[in-house]
Amino acid sequence: MLEGELTGNQFAHFFVAMRHGQLKTKTEPTIIGYHCFWIVFEELRLMNLAVRVPMRRRGIGWALVTEAFRLGLEQSATRAVLEVRASNEPARDLYTRMGFTQISRRPYYYTNPTEDALLMEMNPLVISNGWQRDRNVVSGGESASTDSL
Ligand SMILES: CC(C)(COP(=O)(O)OP(=O)(O)OC[C@H]1O[C@@H](n2cnc3c(N)ncnc32)[C@H](O)[C@@H]1OP(=O)(O)O)[C@@H](O)C(=O)NCCC(=O)NCCS
Repeated sequence: MLEGELTGNQFAHFFVAMRHGQLKTKTEPTIIGYHCFWIVFEELRLMNLAVRVPMRRRGIGWALVTEAFRLGLEQSATRAVLEVRASNEPARDLYTRMGFTQISRRPYYYTNPTEDALLMEMNPLVISNGWQRDRNVVSGGESASTDSL
């Protein structure tokens, strides 16, 4: 699915968060999070966002979404939309803090397990300063940054 997005979808973009610095067994940069999103004319659509479990709550999800906003605004997007599982409190909290609001609910949208989707929107699209370290996430002697694919 990801390969299809990368090679066959002109609207799709990816950002990855890379961890630079020494891990226990390797020294090369490691992908610790990614964000797939579409820019379709005036609409930025968040499609997939994930951060590796040990790296959560450090502003990486926020940074990945903020970088998508920057690109969307550069390309004249004016609003952003997404769907999220109703039970996904971490993601809902992130999006709400960034300025998204719920505009509708889609019953039984997801499977495995079956669950409603909440449709959230930010209109107009604006970049929030709510998370202070959004562009340069630092932890101990290591650092993380975002790159596009
Ligand atoms: C949702 C997800 C991407 C957040 O990534 P993250 O890098 O941990 O998020 P951040 O550190 O940028 O969090 C920013 C803010 O979002 C909110 N937030 C993030 N995780 C949260 C949690 N577990 N509980 C409550 N609020 C949370 C907080 O307001 C947080 O700010 P704070 O840490 O100052 O309180 C991550 O939890 C994840 O990969 N989840 C599994 C995949 C998923 O659900 N993706 C979204 C699909 S729609």
